[in-house]
Amino acid sequence: MCRCGVVAEVPVAVCLPRSADSIVALLAVMRAGGVYVPLAPEWPADRTAYVLDEIAARIVITRDLPADPGRVHLDPRPTPSDDPEPVPRLHPDQAAYIIYTSGSTGTPKGITVQHRSFSQLFRHVRQMADGISRSNVAHTTEMTFDPSLEQFLWLVAGHTLHVVPEDVRRDPEALVGLVRRAAIDALNVTPSHLGMLIEAGLLEGDRVPGTVLVGGEAVSAALWRTLRERATDTRFFNLYGPTEGTVDATCHDLSAPVDVPVIGAPLPHVRVRVLDAHLQPVPVGVAGEIYLGGLGLARGYVNRPGLTAQRFIADPYSSTPGSRLYRTGDRARWRPDGTLEYLGRTDDQIKLRGFRIEPGEIEATLTQHPTVKEAAVTVAADNNGAARLIALVALAPRAMHSSSPGSGQNAQVEDWNAVFETTHIDAADGELTFNIKGWNDSLTGAPIPAEHMREWVDTTVGRLLDRPAKRVLEIGCGTGLLMWRLLPYVTEYTGTDFSRPAVEWLRDGLRRRPAHQARLHHREATDFTGVDAASADLVVINSVVQYFPDRDYLDAVLDRAVDAAADQGRIFVGDVRNLALAPQFYARQALAHADPGVSAQNVARTARAFEHRDSELLISPEYFTALAARSPRVTGVEILPRRGQHRNEMSLYRYDVVLHVGDLPAAPEVEVVTWGEQVYDLGALSARLDHGGPDALLVRGVANDRLTRDNELLEAPVRTVAVDPEDLWALADSTPYRVCVSWAAADPMRWTFCWSGRTPTTTARCLSPTVHPRHRPG
Ligand SMILES: C[S@@+](CC[C@H](N)C(=O)[O-])C[C@H]1O[C@@H](n2cnc3c(N)ncnc32)[C@H](O)[C@@H]1O
Repeated sequence: MCRCGVVAEVPVAVCLPRSADSIVALLAVMRAGGVYVPLAPEWPADRTAYVLDEIAARIVITRDLPADPGRVHLDPRPTPSDDPEPVPRLHPDQAAYIIYTSGSTGTPKGITVQHRSFSQLFRHVRQMADGISRSNVAHTTEMTFDPSLEQFLWLVAGHTLHVVPEDVRRDPEALVGLVRRAAIDALNVTPSHLGMLIEAGLLEGDRVPGTVLVGGEAVSAALWRTLRERATDTRFFNLYGPTEGTVDATCHDLSAPVDVPVIGAPLPHVRVRVLDAHLQPVPVGVAGEIYLGGLGLARGYVNRPGLTAQRFIADPYSSTPGSRLYRTGDRARWRPDGTLEYLGRTDDQIKLRGFRIEPGEIEATLTQHPTVKEAAVTVAADNNGAARLIALVALAPRAMHSSSPGSGQNAQVEDWNAVFETTHIDAADGELTFNIKGWNDSLTGAPIPAEHMREWVDTTVGRLLDRPAKRVLEIGCGTGLLMWRLLPYVTEYTGTDFSRPAVEWLRDGLRRRPAHQARLHHREATDFTGVDAASADLVVINSVVQYFPDRDYLDAVLDRAVDAAADQGRIFVGDVRNLALAPQFYARQALAHADPGVSAQNVARTARAFEHRDSELLISPEYFTALAARSPRVTGVEILPRRGQHRNEMSLYRYDVVLHVGDLPAAPEVEVVTWGEQVYDLGALSARLDHGGPDALLVRGVANDRLTRDNELLEAPVRTVAVDPEDLWALADSTPYRVCVSWAAADPMRWTFCWSGRTPTTTARCLSPTVHPRHRPG
């Protein structure tokens, strides 16, 4: 360990199956002064990756995790060494271990415990073992669960530790057999586990363990009675304490005559206060919340200063500077005999077989599945009276009729279909021509303000009507935000959508406000049945492609859209999520969810988690330029930033694409300059256009001011003046030029602008070299 660079505060992740090796690894890490972080080989890969990432693990002791460059994998089998390293002295402030527990927001949280607290736990273990010498102690707890560290301390106190194999641990009869065979004197189990062991005969016969520690969840009145009756041959201790209080905070020896389950009195190094909502102590017999103080308090939560400050508060009753109290969320009342009676939780945290479970974590995971609309998690007894964790889910309506979700393209289309059908059913009482129900901002999860949506619709329709189009085909028409605005200008409008409620809602709307030119079809985006080749002046696919399952599906839809477009027609693919701006998007999303003052490292980690969970399709602009190159009918491509003054998810991270079909007029002579070199700000640009400027001016690489904040966050500041494209459109209004904007292909942070005095078509053509469309001979 020392040779691997383990020193104080260096986390060492240990991911081994239960075995003597895991205990050796634990001892080695602690003795070398490192921070022990247990992981379970059976954890889902996501959870393991999250924890390794959060602690920035460089050293992992494992045989199970896949190799990863940058991490050292140690073989925990002993290697003989003639030259033992000097063992460092440990400081009480040093972190001893980090235990991960369930977190209510869907991600686990790590609790860091210092040696100061761990050594107090050791004193407590020695007190419980007082008078017992060289006993056999069973190690029965999961390695990732903090009582396992208490069991390890029996070894440190000079006793023999029997690491109970996993299959024996889970089988009450096998465990009782082992207790007898190995003459186990002490074991530590949860009350529910103990109930099963007693049923399997733990307390029968003449070889019963002398000490049984129970903890991790509340003891029922029935078990309490049994233990009290059997407390002659066996000493039972009921232990209470959260991980944040270093395993045990209070203890009750059941040989003391108390008839109802109690969690006993504080350990000598612990202060317990039972306080009301105003942090005032409650009188004996009155329920309040348990606050813990003293030497057992953990340092706090890994990388969560906000949560640490919220749960570890300044102790208003202590005159010692820096004294803290940990707010447990457990309810209790003092009894006149000085013991505490546990009364449950103040929140909905569940303790089940010793596991601390935040139902919110499970609910958050379940509702990520597109077919799950809502989820609730609780504990209920099964037919045998055993407690079980139960999840209740409300399925999205479509999911109820479909077979179990399969894999691949179809399953994903079905999943999204279920999501949209539910959204559209919920949107059924929306405003007829401006139904924005269900439009939520994915950065924050909040509904997008109506004025932002109105701008979004206005600017989109403005772009669609930029050139006349009489015959329009819209794929994924939704609730008709665009349809109602286009109808007055067109002779034929065909809308399709795979959401039946959306199509029915629109049909109903058309009955109330008839428009003879409108046709609607309930169908998937790939279905172009009845659409003739070259029959649409404009094909619109707006804010839809992100729900396509993959690139093949997108290819199929766009190839058909190109066939459907008439000569001189356009295909408008709008509101496309930009893959090239994914880092900025996830960083902004993480920031929107971060506690104030959280570290940049933590934000980056949350950003990765958001990225991991995102099931939508993000597309980089190059996809469309490549499509143009392979598609003989496409002669020009425009990649456009969204218009709009409001800064939101759409104006920041999405773009529109216009694919032009049919011949374009010849490109004008274009003067090409580079932003930051020949032209460096709006004033210089305006001057250049004012005084007898060129026919057309193409300015490459103008930095995008909408992303300035994101780039600072990602520590990638842009070195030239940045402008909002809206300012350039505004500038165009004060000159004789029209302006056209397109992404600069090589750099997603920048745009290329083209100023020309001619038609928009000409502009599209003059931008084309920038985005590499196909050049047709002649
Ligand atoms: C965000 S809404 C956009 C609606 C409309 N285009 C607009 O701009 O207001 C996405 C629409 O696409 C539809 N959609 C998503 N995936 C689809 C698919 N594979 N086939 C057909 N429609 C789809 C949804 O039902 C939903 O109505």
